[in-house]
Amino acid sequence: MAKRRVGILISGRGSNMAALIEAARAPDYPAEIVLVVSNVPDAAGLAFAALRGVPTVVVNHKNFANRETFADALDAKLRAAKVEIVCLAGFMRLLATPFVERWRGRMINIHPSLLPAFKGLNTHARALDAGAKTHGCTVHYVEPELDSGPVILQAEVPVLPGDDEATLAARVLKEEHRLYPAALRLVAEGRDKS
Ligand code: GRF
Repeated sequence: MAKRRVGILISGRGSNMAALIEAARAPDYPAEIVLVVSNVPDAAGLAFAALRGVPTVVVNHKNFANRETFADALDAKLRAAKVEIVCLAGFMRLLATPFVERWRGRMINIHPSLLPAFKGLNTHARALDAGAKTHGCTVHYVEPELDSGPVILQAEVPVLPGDDEATLAARVLKEEHRLYPAALRLVAEGRDKS
């Protein structure tokens, strides 16, 4: 079967992007990463993608008057690369609703919490503050409402005595790198639950 064409949107480090690129190198993986787009010109992830031979492009939100025109520019890049599935991987801009609607069912995100718990930012600190016994990460379809949308896969980790934000984040991130490629595989094969 033909591999599904995937575009990844990043804003920074890109470790989840790297996990997807590495997974997609396996001959039997059902998706290929055809484009990485960053809204931040010096995002560290861009260099890694280029090193692996994945085409990269910067669409700097600062060059656009509003969310709509920025999203239109993203859309144009994705379409030009014939992207079929979009993966958000640490992409830190809110996307205009028409863009989200256009990609509905074909755009997924990874979030560092067990959704619906701890939507938004600073999830690890908030989990610790709340005294959560377990924490984790979620891959879900993107809907206009932030960090909502059907869940594809979740991974749980324990919160251990003595954890701080950094130790908990590292434990979750390790799971993210396993979970995202597994979730993209399901989506690319049409085997997700939703
Ligand atoms: C990850 O924790 C991801 O869940 C969240 O932002 C972080 C991005 O990290 N959405 P990276 O850029 O993938 O390393």
